[in-house]
Amino acid sequence: MMQKLTAIVVMVGIFLLGMTAFSFAADDMQKQVDAIKGVLPKFAIPMREVGARFQNMYFAAKGGNWGLAYYMSKYMNGALNPAKLTKPDEYPAWKTFYEETFAPVNKAIFAQDFKAFEKEYTAVINKCNDCHSGMGYGFIKVVKMKAPADKGIAYTGKSKAEDVPK
Ligand code: HEC
Repeated sequence: MMQKLTAIVVMVGIFLLGMTAFSFAADDMQKQVDAIKGVLPKFAIPMREVGARFQNMYFAAKGGNWGLAYYMSKYMNGALNPAKLTKPDEYPAWKTFYEETFAPVNKAIFAQDFKAFEKEYTAVINKCNDCHSGMGYGFIKVVKMKAPADKGIAYTGKSKAEDVPK
């Protein structure tokens, strides 16, 4: 009887010890996850990419390189992916912007319609800036550049949005 009791006490003891170690490990893991999240980009770093891809897109569309224009658009959106994790409260505003406000620009890219593209592209600049003001960054104003942000690629060339690999 006594032996059985001792065995139970020992087993419970081992179990409790295990649980404590496990909870310490979980705690440590959470700290490490938080540390990794802390060094991942939030909005500022991806927005630099958004800015550059947005400018490049215009010159690609103008050059009839619609595949490149759509590629710029696609990865302009993708640039914000880290914010899903690092800024979960703010990310949905970007998602809505890209999927709804920006949709007419993408539509013009797919239609290879430069006239429509230029109109929608110009209109969307104010929407970029509306979000900046709304989030307390009214001092960040996007302006259209006279040349692409990146000079290392050819903007002219014949291609279509569907050429961009899925
Ligand atoms: C959902 C809101 C939102 C939308 C939409 C948005 N931005 Fe931003 N943008 C921000 C915020 C917030 C910052 C400031 C970054 C920070 O402090 O984390 C910023 C900063 C920037 C910067 C400055 C980056 C730097 O640090 O040099 C540029 C350039 C920029 N945005 C371009 C654009 C362009 C172009 C568009 C439209 C195609 C756009 N943004 C749309 C929220 C937005």
